[in-house]
Amino acid sequence: MGAGNHGASTPLIRSDSQPVARRTASRYVCQDCGAVAPRWAGRCDACGAWNSIVEEPDEAAPPRAIGAGGGGRRLALSGLDEVGPDAPRRATGIAELDRVLGGGLVAGSAVLIGGDPGIGKSTLLLQAVCALGREVACLYISGEEAVEQIRMRAARLGLAGPSVALAAASDVRDILATLDRPEAPGVVVIDSIQTMFVDTLDSAPGTVAQVRASAGELVRLAKRRGLSLLLVGHVTKDGMIAGPRVLEHMVDVVLYFEGERGHQFRILRAVKNRYGATDEIGVFEMTGSGLREVANPSELFLADRSGTEGGRVTGAVVFAGLEGTRPVLVEVQALVAPTALGTPRRAVVGWDANRLAMVLAVLEARGGIAVGANDVYLNVAGGLKIGEPAADLAMAAAIVSSRLDVPLAHDTVVFGEIGLSGEVRPVPQTELRLKEAAKLGFARAIAPRRNRRDAYGLNPAIEMSDIASVDDLLNLFDPPGSPYRAPWRQAAT
Ligand code: TYD
Ligand code: MG
Repeated sequence: MGAGNHGASTPLIRSDSQPVARRTASRYVCQDCGAVAPRWAGRCDACGAWNSIVEEPDEAAPPRAIGAGGGGRRLALSGLDEVGPDAPRRATGIAELDRVLGGGLVAGSAVLIGGDPGIGKSTLLLQAVCALGREVACLYISGEEAVEQIRMRAARLGLAGPSVALAAASDVRDILATLDRPEAPGVVVIDSIQTMFVDTLDSAPGTVAQVRASAGELVRLAKRRGLSLLLVGHVTKDGMIAGPRVLEHMVDVVLYFEGERGHQFRILRAVKNRYGATDEIGVFEMTGSGLREVANPSELFLADRSGTEGGRVTGAVVFAGLEGTRPVLVEVQALVAPTALGTPRRAVVGWDANRLAMVLAVLEARGGIAVGANDVYLNVAGGLKIGEPAADLAMAAAIVSSRLDVPLAHDTVVFGEIGLSGEVRPVPQTELRLKEAAKLGFARAIAPRRNRRDAYGLNPAIEMSDIASVDDLLNLFDPPGSPYRAPWRQAAT
């Protein structure tokens, strides 16, 4: 595209000058979601973000209809059943990354890796190109760090990559000039897309217009040359820098790298994948020598379990969950405490607050567990975020255990979905969940009745409780006649 600019003849210059005259017009673009507003406002109507609207020169050409017989080229059509070449995949050599990608990087594809600054995106990609570099030429382009800095980091992490090239650049025109050649490398990392700019736009790097235009150029290049493009995108809340959200539709795969500050665990999650499933996660641990793959997340999430065997810890329950195709055991903790405030607090980390409200309402209405005047805190250990409805029963068990001050047996896992009428519904993949639990030394499962029937005899190592409703769950903690049986609950049932 660069060549045409120099040989411009006079009429072209004149038609070029028209948009300059129009540039007095501005538009107001939300830097978070890309919505265009007619005038400046403190809050974006489309996504609700504050202070995210920025004035940008209106550079869009006025829409023109193509008209009848517009001189287009007829498309070549091909049948759905025709056998085409399989998209070649390159395994990165980092199993947790490959799992999330759906088996490896696809040639000619664009992958966006979003995440908070400092979460480890550059580290992950540096490790990935060094692993990939054994088989294919890779190029790591940084707009944030100097080449020497990247080299030092690689040396500190003990990484070597004979066929990994580095460059510090942010002008997309230069990057295209380097890459738009037959001998281009097979894998290209752009760190980060917010630092890239195209010189045909006036807006500053990091604005929606620049981020979109730069990504558009790079993605087209990747398709044209069949190279795998990895784009880093920072997620920021301050509205000055366009978030990766505006790019999600332009790329083939969107991964988010998440983790709690202060936790070592990092979770790589696919939110869009044109070449694979989106419910897989990759688990890493940030160590002094880079990111380490965690092949068995359950061991990691249970590593610091509160209390010891025989210890009396209430409010802690192990949930037998599923992330993609992989079973993950994780401890959930609840604390129900009398409130000191007029309105009790409900605080959740790692789970949906609406789901907590529902479980509390069902426990109160169907089980007679009064929590209305208590603060309820719920925490998923290790910084994992749980999205499965199958976690309902584990959350309920943790809340009941804390409210009644009765611990659950240490060797028990819990799973099941709770309905509004207090019924406990079956969840998929009982066998996988039980197998993982047995592997890690658990002997009991509190699970829905249907799952128990389906799993009968499958896993003799695990004894399953028969749970059809929240009342059955309460009876485990508070069997009739036990000293724990609370008078207020007797009144309710
Ligand atoms: P980085 O990959 O630069 O994050 P991003 O590119 O997402 O902004 O990671 C930066 C953080 O990771 C930094 O705060 C320090 C930490 N870190 C380690 O703990 N160990 C390491 O070996 C490396 C390279 C980084
Ligand atoms: Mg970085």
